[in-house]
Amino acid sequence: MKSRKTGNERDARVRWLYEQLVEIEQRLIPTGLHVFGRASELQEKTDLLRMVASFDRPEQGARALPKLIAEALGIGGYDALIHDPSPNDARDLIGSILSEAVQVFCQSAPSGAADWLKERAGVDPAESLPTFLLLAKIAEQLESNNEIESLMHALRGRYVEPGPGADIVQNPGVLPTGRNTHAVNPYSVPSPTAFARAEHAAEALLLRYREENGHYPRAVAMVLWGLDNIKTQGEGVAQALWLLGVRPVRDALNRATEIEVIPLEELKRPRVDVVMTVSGIFRDLFAPTMALLDKAVRRVAALDEPTEMNFVRQNVLQKVEAGGSNFDDAVTRVFSNAPGNYGANVNFMVAESQWETADTLGDLFVTRKCFAYTRDSRGRTIDGREARDLMDDNLARVEATYQNIDSFEVGITDVDHYFEYLGGISNAVEKRAQARPSIYLSDSLSSVTKIRSLEETIRLETRFRGVAEIENHVLNTFGWSATADAVDPWIYTEISKTFLLDPVMFNRLRELNSDSLKSLTKRLLEAHERGYWSPDEEILEKLREIIESFGKRFSVRYII
Ligand code: BEZ
Ligand code: MG
Repeated sequence: MKSRKTGNERDARVRWLYEQLVEIEQRLIPTGLHVFGRASELQEKTDLLRMVASFDRPEQGARALPKLIAEALGIGGYDALIHDPSPNDARDLIGSILSEAVQVFCQSAPSGAADWLKERAGVDPAESLPTFLLLAKIAEQLESNNEIESLMHALRGRYVEPGPGADIVQNPGVLPTGRNTHAVNPYSVPSPTAFARAEHAAEALLLRYREENGHYPRAVAMVLWGLDNIKTQGEGVAQALWLLGVRPVRDALNRATEIEVIPLEELKRPRVDVVMTVSGIFRDLFAPTMALLDKAVRRVAALDEPTEMNFVRQNVLQKVEAGGSNFDDAVTRVFSNAPGNYGANVNFMVAESQWETADTLGDLFVTRKCFAYTRDSRGRTIDGREARDLMDDNLARVEATYQNIDSFEVGITDVDHYFEYLGGISNAVEKRAQARPSIYLSDSLSSVTKIRSLEETIRLETRFRGVAEIENHVLNTFGWSATADAVDPWIYTEISKTFLLDPVMFNRLRELNSDSLKSLTKRLLEAHERGYWSPDEEILEKLREIIESFGKRFSVRYII
């Protein structure tokens, strides 16, 4: 009996390990920021092309290669297959044929790759050729890079050709780079495609929360960025609308200015309250979209529905009944910086080690972001009225925080703005709700949108770093400890072992950039001092020795 149980445990463990490996394998991991003026390298290009080939592109007449392969091999239900994380030979087979096909493509012509795919999997070349031709166009554009020339043109005041702003995988039309990025018409947001894609992400977010907590979140705090919503034509905006259970409706001029309520029978779940903090860039670009979101919340709050199926109404009624608030105040959900201001500045405070207690960072976030953008019941616009009490009150009800990650180009430990925003708001919620929220990110870059916890996302990124951006990566990881206490201690141990305790790596980094190496070491010691990590005495001793070896006075005040 006992040995069978152990055998089952072992099988479960192997299966878990398998799922983790598949997840890492299937996802594009950012390998550092783009170097201005530099074309993509071969490996990067192959990964990118494989990803581009994994999506249907009806506008280009090109179909997703994995689907063509599945059809030709007679494997049904491919869409269901990629949503299922368990070990699956058919999915592995499709994946390996896809990878090989892209490699063959990189070494030969589109027709050669289409012929190879016919031979290997029986895919009709007439079906696959349009996709390979699209890849050929993208590959050519990736090899050329006119960014420096375009910048020089711009600095001379000359014309720079315009191009759309988007993620390469989502819209290969952004290539060639080095053009004058144009945004979107805010009235077109969210696009029908963005709204359709967002349904899956919003439902997956709610499912994940329910699995972990046994109930729907009463309120979710969402971070919305401008550039991301340009890239996806408003996927983040559309997710907020789905959580509320409404659809955007176009007016006579085809502008998304109206809201249609999705009936509860169709929605089949409660409407979830959403508190939206939008960046300064979003505020500047998407004023009509902010009005649409505000309108959606007001409409939902006014519905005659049972409060256990409409958390917006429940929260608004509670606030009004508690006294001191009218409907207009109680329904305010869209916040940003004061007009003309940008950023939450939490990142600067972390980088400068300028915070005393865990609450300070969230308080700073609220100070910067507590400006309400709404309308009153008579339709008068309110553009950035300081409303700290209202924001505090909103955040006190939040049970989950969330941001949509929609570019494979940047990870959450590549730049400091993710912990500035999502970390900052989570920290603010923790104090006001007196409980740490569940913190989630979406990842729409694997071919299926996935919802991951913050901790899972950090682990995934930590396992795959290039040498580039190491110091930044450590600072940004540390920022997630500071704002959301979301970093496993082993991560700091592994960083120490990989970059500092391995003599070959250490000497290489010291030679390349000793200042960065020193700040990295200090940051690890600060992580220990602030209680995020308790390394062995041996590791600590080594870190201190390294600092001394730099021969300068040690100035971080948190080190004993
Ligand atoms: C934005 O696109 O809104 C944004 C980009 C970087 C940092 C903060 C906001
Ligand atoms: Mg910056």
